[in-house]
Amino acid sequence: PRRVAVLISGRGSNMQALIEKASGYEVVLVASNKPQAAGIDCARAAGIPTWTWDSKGVDRLLFDRTLSAALKDHGVGTIALAGFMRILTPWFIAEWEGRIVNIHPSLLPKYKGLDTHARAIEAGDTMSGCSVHVVTEELDAGAILGQVEVPIEAGDTPTSLEQRILAAEHELYSRILSEFVRR
Ligand code: GAR
Repeated sequence: PRRVAVLISGRGSNMQALIEKASGYEVVLVASNKPQAAGIDCARAAGIPTWTWDSKGVDRLLFDRTLSAALKDHGVGTIALAGFMRILTPWFIAEWEGRIVNIHPSLLPKYKGLDTHARAIEAGDTMSGCSVHVVTEELDAGAILGQVEVPIEAGDTPTSLEQRILAAEHELYSRILSEFVRR
């Protein structure tokens, strides 16, 4: 379980934090459905093996079966989604049941899905945050492993709130992943 693959689609700041703060686990592979993802360059610079396949137009099951085979080739035991913006097939989730975690930028069960910061501000909330949860077939609905609350301040924009929550994500994710791989 301690051999972790991080799945990304973009910037990869959570991936970077998971690599830098690794404790009790090892990031053995970074995989992306976007070959141009900035995080892939960071992973390469950190000397971590990478796997990429542009998922655009690719059959979902074929993509997931190929990804799963790559994860097994690398002896992966735990999968950490970190800004992986693609819904995994039920087949993949069953294949890796109970071994996939995700970070989400809201206090789940509030604001599943996209545009969480804009929705929290729009609703007039005074508190938001981030959650790490087990991935199940239902989007953003698996068991919550940990959360951090982050205040929404007067005048916050989705961008300013995102920055504040992102800093909290970077602390939360490595801490929860360390616990998760030990259980
Ligand atoms: C993070 O805020 C993460 O919580 C969010 O995407 C961002 C990725 O940033 N994930 C989701 O919205 C999942 N639906 P990063 O690439 O810099 O880690």
